[in-house]
Amino acid sequence: MLKLYFFFISLVGGVRAGAEEACPAFTGLGISSALIGTDLRVKLMLYTRQNQDCAETLTSTGSKYLNVTKKTILIVHGYRPTGSPPVWIQETVQLLLSAEDINIIIVDWNRGATTLLYHRASSNTKKVAEFLKTVIDQMVADGASLDSVYMIGISLGAHIAGFVGQMYDGKLGRITGLDPAGPLFNGKPLEERLDPTDAQFVDVIHSDIDALGYREALGHIDFYANGGTDQPGCPQTIFSGNEYFKCDHQRSVFLYLASLRKSCNITAYPCDTYRDYRNGKCASCEAFQPMPCPVLGYYADKWKSYLTLKNPPVTKVFFDTSEEKPFCLYHYFVDIITWNKDIRRGFLIIKLTDQAGNTAQSTVNHEVATFQPYSQASLLAGFDQDFENIARISLAFSTGNVVGPKHKLRILQMKLRSITNPERPQLCRYDLVLLENTETTFKPVPCQNI
Ligand SMILES: *[C@@H]1O[C@H](CO)[C@@H](O)[C@H](O)[C@H]1NC(C)=O
Ligand SMILES: *[C@@H]1O[C@H](CO)[C@@H](O)[C@H](O)[C@H]1NC(C)=O
Repeated sequence: MLKLYFFFISLVGGVRAGAEEACPAFTGLGISSALIGTDLRVKLMLYTRQNQDCAETLTSTGSKYLNVTKKTILIVHGYRPTGSPPVWIQETVQLLLSAEDINIIIVDWNRGATTLLYHRASSNTKKVAEFLKTVIDQMVADGASLDSVYMIGISLGAHIAGFVGQMYDGKLGRITGLDPAGPLFNGKPLEERLDPTDAQFVDVIHSDIDALGYREALGHIDFYANGGTDQPGCPQTIFSGNEYFKCDHQRSVFLYLASLRKSCNITAYPCDTYRDYRNGKCASCEAFQPMPCPVLGYYADKWKSYLTLKNPPVTKVFFDTSEEKPFCLYHYFVDIITWNKDIRRGFLIIKLTDQAGNTAQSTVNHEVATFQPYSQASLLAGFDQDFENIARISLAFSTGNVVGPKHKLRILQMKLRSITNPERPQLCRYDLVLLENTETTFKPVPCQNI
């Protein structure tokens, strides 16, 4: 079996053509292949800092660039309904190699993943995993350590990584699942899907749990982007064509890549449900002391020792994002005490302006907030920019009613406190009346200790 496979990849490697392929490319297929379906073939493309721009096809005859004493990341794609190569390959390779001096192996099983029939692609996952086992076995025989093998699996690829990890009894260093596939895997027992026993550290990003992704937690830590369902900036209707189907699902990959650019940290908060997170019930990071709350992506393994010791070793974390890269939102609590006679329900839109005149608006559509007289409502607000010096705050209140009388929200105290940077001074404003649907702008003052 092993020999046969290696014989096969050496064929793909270009020996067939009588010469080495100049720079091997990911298999590109078209819709006709998707219609007929494709038989499984696996091709391995190695990138290192020595051959960053030109992959080397790995064959059994040895490699010029593979250095098994270094960390090796195997990246496994998912279902490819149209046969086109994934858009993220070059960027991923470049970002990972700039982060660390490692081997990157792109596992190209496009033949096998390209078919209109998802279940056919899905039925190939175990075979891809068995093949990858022979590849890793060979690397181990050459001196690699399982500790330094890291698999990143996208969609169906996440379960492939899980199957490989299971064959090594969880001894692989790490598996990251990027929106692991849901259909045909949802509700399956541990051995039929990715799970925390598949590697020493398993981290997962969920971005499409209501369609192509897996709903439940599968790793030591599961990051749910915007609750894991609809991603901001993705089309909401089917009239946007293909993008409608894959945008949410693919977002997990782009979030992971954003973590390698290091322009900002996507911090996530432990919580039982997204609803609780949105209602501001889960802004505490105490559990991780002296670390901050976990940051999604490549560096999430900094939290490994805490996360893997938990019993059971399952942590669900939630975070909201902006529409485009770098995706970070900076979180604030807006604490409001009102003195209306009756309970008021409504939405609050919050705008911050810094001393240079830059503005950031809370883009998060809050659930309707309930303001009870003389009790504090704490709203969670996310801004796509982080201002150190907030000069002005604008508030607008809306009940959502288009007709009927305009309501007022009488605010006794408004307090803005940064969750992202809790050491920053809290900003307040006292005695304020908001007229419905009218923006009120004011200069905040340092909070008095009451
Ligand atoms: C392989 O990598 C190790 C660790 O980075 C390094 O010390 C060694 O020189 C490398 N070997 C070759 C042949 O480049
Ligand atoms: C992101 O978090 C890390 C700690 O995990 C910290 O060292 C780094 O400075 C942070 N980066 C930014 C841009 O805040």
